[in-house]
Amino acid sequence: MTSPTAQSLSAIDQQKKRAADYAVAKVETGMKVGLGTGSTARFAVAALGERVRKEGLKVKCIPTSEATRKQAEEEGIAVVGFDQIDRLDLCFDGADEADPKLNLTKGGGGALLREKVVAFTSAKFYCIVDEAKLVDKLYAFPLPLEVIPFALKVVEREVAALGGQGTLRQKEGKTYVTDNGLWILDCRFPPIEDPPLLAKAFASIPGIAEHGLFCGMVYELVVGTNEGIKVLKPQS
Ligand code: 5RP
Repeated sequence: MTSPTAQSLSAIDQQKKRAADYAVAKVETGMKVGLGTGSTARFAVAALGERVRKEGLKVKCIPTSEATRKQAEEEGIAVVGFDQIDRLDLCFDGADEADPKLNLTKGGGGALLREKVVAFTSAKFYCIVDEAKLVDKLYAFPLPLEVIPFALKVVEREVAALGGQGTLRQKEGKTYVTDNGLWILDCRFPPIEDPPLLAKAFASIPGIAEHGLFCGMVYELVVGTNEGIKVLKPQS
């Protein structure tokens, strides 16, 4: 598979591809790389595959979903697991929303648990997004929780107590099942004033395998624009 040419893409896809190309340019031979999931990460995996084939770039990669694993293998990218490597040099992945403090909502593609493990183990997390993902407050995109089926009702009640309302994700008329065999509860909350505080609350609820708030994890937020890219770094 080859990367699409810029001319054949919509404006939003061009933004995604610009952000993806920036992150992939950071990869050097010998690196261990985490591969995200979603339409933006897909551009990055295609661009990485192109570098592997054309430049002979040697990398070992951990994908964040079975869909990304399949794409990476088709691209000729070497895929490994955490039994073979411990730390990643960098990872690239998209987001559903990003606030000015670079808190993220992730999990629109249902891969949030593996995405968080990969981001956690990466020295540098390049979050690659189009401009539409930038928001003042995390809110409009429902916040996904990956939930152990046995605990669904318990988690729903706890989410309600926190002021949210959960909806079990469906796909093609059936309950959506993640790569980990779990379910996704998409939660609507009022605009989230303090994402780290809410993240802490989720962490204390048994039955939530992982939540889609990524706080304090981004190394650079790479925003594709119509003109080029903007790179935002966390303020210390
Ligand atoms: C998947 C994710 C994705 O990164 C997020 O949904 C953004 O996807 P896209 O790049 O298609 O907008 O978290 O679980």
